[in-house]
Amino acid sequence: SLNGYEHYMLKEIHEQPDSLRNAMRGRLNDEDATAVFGGLNLTPQQLRGVERIILTGCGTSWHSALVGEYMIEEFARIPVCVEYASELRYRNPPIENNTLVFGITQSGETADTLAALNETKRKGHRTLALCNVVGSSIAQAADGGVYLHAGPEIGVASTKAYSSQCCVLAMLSLYFGRMRHMSFESGGRIIEELRRLPAAVEQALTCDSEVRRIAAKYADASNFLYLGRRYNFPTALEGALKLKEISYIHAEGYPAAEMKHGPIALVDEHTPSVFIMPRGTTYDKVMSNMEEVKARGGPVIAVASHEEAQIRRIADEVIMIPEVPEFLQPIVSAIPLQLLSYHIAVLRGCDVDKPRNLAKSVTVE
Ligand code: M6R
Repeated sequence: SLNGYEHYMLKEIHEQPDSLRNAMRGRLNDEDATAVFGGLNLTPQQLRGVERIILTGCGTSWHSALVGEYMIEEFARIPVCVEYASELRYRNPPIENNTLVFGITQSGETADTLAALNETKRKGHRTLALCNVVGSSIAQAADGGVYLHAGPEIGVASTKAYSSQCCVLAMLSLYFGRMRHMSFESGGRIIEELRRLPAAVEQALTCDSEVRRIAAKYADASNFLYLGRRYNFPTALEGALKLKEISYIHAEGYPAAEMKHGPIALVDEHTPSVFIMPRGTTYDKVMSNMEEVKARGGPVIAVASHEEAQIRRIADEVIMIPEVPEFLQPIVSAIPLQLLSYHIAVLRGCDVDKPRNLAKSVTVE
């Protein structure tokens, strides 16, 4: 039921502190400073031998794969490639021995993701599913996997499944990291940071009324740009997809530094740019990218973690989110973007939970 919310999407956005707690329940092990998973169906020796990981999926699940790529490479130093399932199934790429293939999917029924997993499995690679729906086709087809435990996601726009996918990928990175070079101390620190995540998401959700005000100001725009770097680049793609999908406004996500290579030509006074820029490694660089957009007359909305005069001076709007370590920023910074697309879609009279031309699970290719 809707539990007093006007739409499933809004309800599911607000469920995220709980769905994240459920994703982590029983999976953090303080004694060994690692994560534990019941259903991987692979021995520690087999997992220790993994030399490459392929993450595949479609749409929002492909975005969480991009986040996973950064996490696994940072924490486990295992090379990762991210593939659109629809491309992987037909591209016939050379895949080395000791490659592990993860299919990431909320529904577990996406035809392309199922086909990509079956194709890699047929070639003798180990396949795992990172999936929300228990007993779904992809969960059954894979050699093993991890459930998200996010509860049913009814809105066509994926929200809580996305954050849970990122969270499970963080725990997997911890797990693979601790099998290799990561110290007990670093593992323990990551566990602590993960435990603080639900409260940070709760705090991020308090930006709702501010985001609604901003939505009202920009709801008539025909184009949006979303920009971020490193961990916040996939968030830019995800923010743009959410907006396209439910409000039918054209939006593009880019790594902020790519602006100069073309997209900046789109900037004018009618095209808002959303900068996802919580403080981190590339913070100053993104600040200059934002200044460049502003200098060309584009309205700027910044998603930031620290009150700073410089951001307030450049950006027209600032949405504050709590500070979390960089690897968890995708989860926290997605919240205002989910809310922004939601409020804009409502203001434009769109059918938020059932956008035109779309189905919750895409079971045809
Ligand atoms: O069920 P899946 O995660 O496999 O679905 C993949 C995509 O169809 C899905 O994420 C789609 O992009 C969403 N509607 C995005 O909000």
